[in-house]
Amino acid sequence: APSAPAPTTIRFVQFGNKKTKPWYSAPYPEEYSCSRILYICEFCLKYMKSEYTLCRHMMKCSWRHPPGNEIYRDGKISLFEVDGQQQSVYCQNLCLLAKMFLHSKMLYYDVEPFLFYVMTTYEDCKYHFVGYFSKEKRSASNYNVSCILTLPTYQRKGYGAFLIEFSYLLTQVEQKTGSPEKPLSDLGLVSYRSYWKMRVARCLLQANGPLSIEEISKRTSMDPNDIISALEALSILQRNPRTNEYELHIRQDELQAVCNKWDRKHQQRVHPNLLRWTPYI
Ligand code: COA
Ligand code: NA
Repeated sequence: APSAPAPTTIRFVQFGNKKTKPWYSAPYPEEYSCSRILYICEFCLKYMKSEYTLCRHMMKCSWRHPPGNEIYRDGKISLFEVDGQQQSVYCQNLCLLAKMFLHSKMLYYDVEPFLFYVMTTYEDCKYHFVGYFSKEKRSASNYNVSCILTLPTYQRKGYGAFLIEFSYLLTQVEQKTGSPEKPLSDLGLVSYRSYWKMRVARCLLQANGPLSIEEISKRTSMDPNDIISALEALSILQRNPRTNEYELHIRQDELQAVCNKWDRKHQQRVHPNLLRWTPYI
């Protein structure tokens, strides 16, 4: 018997009025993954097969921001907390969208155990989707981020770093330490390494005198293993080839240079006093 024609993969995603190419395939229902262009409502994340359907939808869709509580606002930037149990369709659609830019296996339908932190930018009286991270309501492994994404059209502008910094702020309020779920993608890893390096450098600069890894962990909410990798990246922790022992080399000017470089690149910082949030219980 002739086999069914292979479904053509989606070539473009139109998200709001922005068109991007997906990087990987996502398990949309077959009739959708066959269409050349997938149209997505940038507010409710509903996916559609034609521009006509999207236009009709936009006339009816009353959403202008993600469903959930706005827990942070700084100028045009807002973050909304969305509960996977209360907004399961929205969160499933969010996971499908993210899968187009993630190679790793991830869950699409089991969204109830997660909270989703959606970042938007305010333009024309609407909250436009920029990116998000998801977080387990209860993580047995101390993960503070499960998945993290900046939409390609917004990438390389510092939003990813902002989301990472924000995730650590939540962990700090919870009085815990955390680390992102493994394995990380290549882009995830460069983004985290860069953040960890800056964060540990800043912590050491702010301290008057030496700090134990435990103390750095308390102050940054970072996992001790990630602190060690940052200390190595900063060339603070070096193995002496003769004695084979670790030695600490702290150079204030080098730490300052790392922080200055970061500050120049990241105008948009996370301000803890703007957070309106209590941890999930
Ligand atoms: N090539 C090389 N470096 C890159 C890069 C690219 N395409 N994109 C980002 N980076 C680097 C930046 O240079 C920056 O490091 P720096 O501050 O030392 O320069 C760092 O990564 C973060 O950049 P930033 O602009 O803050 O991040 P972003 O908004 O582009 O988002 C991700 C980063 C990881 C969220 C984004 O790439 C993404 O969504 N990727 C697809 C999903 C994914 O892989 N998620 C992680 C695993 S769950
Ligand atoms: Na992941």
